[in-house]
Amino acid sequence: ASRSFSHLRSPSQRPSFGIAFDIDGVILRGNTPIGGSPQALGRLYHDSFGTLKVPYVFLTNGGGVPESKRAFELSKLLGVNILPSQVIQGHTPFKQLVKRFENDLIIAVGKGEPATVMSEYGFKNAFSIDEYASCFDNIDPLAQFKKWTTGHVNQNNTIRSTACTQRVHAAFIVSDSVDWSRDIQVLCDILRTGGFPGREIAHQPSLYFANDDLEYQAVFPSERLGMGAFRIALESIFNSIHPNALEYTSFGKPNPSVFRNAETVLMETVPSSYQSANHVTGGNHVFRTLYMIGDNPSVDIKGAKQAGHPWFSILTRTGVFKGKKIMLSIQRIWLLTLLKRQWTISSERRA
Ligand code: G3P
Ligand code: MG
Repeated sequence: ASRSFSHLRSPSQRPSFGIAFDIDGVILRGNTPIGGSPQALGRLYHDSFGTLKVPYVFLTNGGGVPESKRAFELSKLLGVNILPSQVIQGHTPFKQLVKRFENDLIIAVGKGEPATVMSEYGFKNAFSIDEYASCFDNIDPLAQFKKWTTGHVNQNNTIRSTACTQRVHAAFIVSDSVDWSRDIQVLCDILRTGGFPGREIAHQPSLYFANDDLEYQAVFPSERLGMGAFRIALESIFNSIHPNALEYTSFGKPNPSVFRNAETVLMETVPSSYQSANHVTGGNHVFRTLYMIGDNPSVDIKGAKQAGHPWFSILTRTGVFKGKKIMLSIQRIWLLTLLKRQWTISSERRA
């Protein structure tokens, strides 16, 4: 990850467009590259130098690990050198909330390393829901039946004496919940008691979701339930046991702010030496077109459309969207009608 964008081409070959790639259902399914995605990404670099020719970022609603780690993993899977700054995940905008919760106890939920993600963003008192739940005996009455749990939670007395006695100021759903029943139970405990599980009802702490994807592609042939489905389950249960409706904020695509941020990141990849008078606004490179390549119409395509110029959306059939090729079907019907007509005419002539 030592390469920088300072090698982008001469002014005559200044990039007029940039690309934002969705990951799940476009570039990867699980850990397997889709189609020729590694080769396609390779074509965005100059062969001779291995330096970037076309500015691009990954704009995913997924996550669970820091951007630096995701960039490293993607580089290995796709055979190109991807910088951490090229990886924008669903939880990346959580950084904006550091000032508000910097020293407060916050709970990070989801697969991977959610607490590490939040700590790297600057939250000084972040605990994973695994660590937090382990502070409270019997908080999950089903834990004893969960044969898959290893029980190897990084728990020590410091956690017990700090996390369990402090008020939880916010819960962040960083990535997909691994144990819905435990997480919904513990989140309801936190949210209905003002951040003190087991106590009386009090004002709800803040709640943030990294995305609101109802479904995503993954490896299985049909789509899998995503963070949006988890949100619906949590919200429905919370609203049934609490007098006030659940308050929350969801980040990720299709929010226009995500696309504005991606545009800024893409502009930062273009060094000032490639800017020219007719392409400069306020000292920044301005792209004629930014392509969002995604598989989910209600997330990637809706988001790019809402973001407006210079965004242009391209929908693939490699993931959530599995629509039929309408033009081909129409052409086929037209061809069959034509053949039938020809056959009728020749039969009539023979008769
Ligand atoms: O959990 C990941 C999923 O919600 C979407 O990922 O890359 O398609 O935005 P992506
Ligand atoms: Mg996708």
